[in-house]
Amino acid sequence: MHLPILALALAASTSSATPLTPRQNSPTVYLAGDSTMARTNSPHNGWGEYLSKYISLPVINKAISGRSARSFTNEGRFTEIENQVRQNDIVIIAFGHNDGGSPNSASDNGRSACPGTGSEVCTSGKTGERVYTYNYYLENAARRLSGRGARVVLASQTTKNPWQNGQWSGNAAPPRFVEYARNAARNTGVGFVDHYQSVIKAYWRLGSGVVNGFYPVDYTHTSPQGADLVAQAFVQAVARDFNGTVALKGYLRNPVPNVW
Ligand SMILES: *[C@@H]1O[C@H](CO)[C@@H](O)[C@H](O)[C@H]1NC(C)=O
Repeated sequence: MHLPILALALAASTSSATPLTPRQNSPTVYLAGDSTMARTNSPHNGWGEYLSKYISLPVINKAISGRSARSFTNEGRFTEIENQVRQNDIVIIAFGHNDGGSPNSASDNGRSACPGTGSEVCTSGKTGERVYTYNYYLENAARRLSGRGARVVLASQTTKNPWQNGQWSGNAAPPRFVEYARNAARNTGVGFVDHYQSVIKAYWRLGSGVVNGFYPVDYTHTSPQGADLVAQAFVQAVARDFNGTVALKGYLRNPVPNVW
């Protein structure tokens, strides 16, 4: 099937002065997030470090420990990605672990978003900075990156260990940022993956013993094995159109992980 097309292409290029110029580079995947996605120090690691095992695209992991949608914005980290992306690159963004708290307080940590999901504005009790909502920061990043031709995927934050003390808490209501991220995706017309729910499903299936083994330091940060599992849950959600079809779906390696 490819040969006649190639022959036509060659014919076309000899008969006209403009040769076909195939796309030279495949898309690149950029990751923006916190320690649960970032490359971190042993004994834990972030899931972003394992994504390239399951997709056929290069991954540039820009996630960094301790960041929130607010601090990632203020430190110019979204702008840096914006300046690097090219048409059709894919940017996966996941925040939520560091976004709660009270920016109005005198001990504002520089990470907490203003409560609410819209145009609410707070004033930092520490620096006087105008602080916006989680949705404001996320939607702003999604719009700007989309405007550069990137295909944006918003992911909900990962779950903490839902098997603490051997008791299953995975049916409890998710943190509010899960729904906020979904709404941010809707508001900006970009893709959404409920990574939180996808990992919950995998953890239910794996059970208490295995999952507790994924949390060597605390209830938030996974071991390398746990991070790999969390990456697989993300890829499976993409493969199954868990919350609609996202751009990454065209680039999955076979066999697709099956962890839930
Ligand atoms: C994503 O899709 C799954 C499967 O249908 C669903 O259980 C989950 O609630 C969805 N997430 C959100 C935030 O809507």
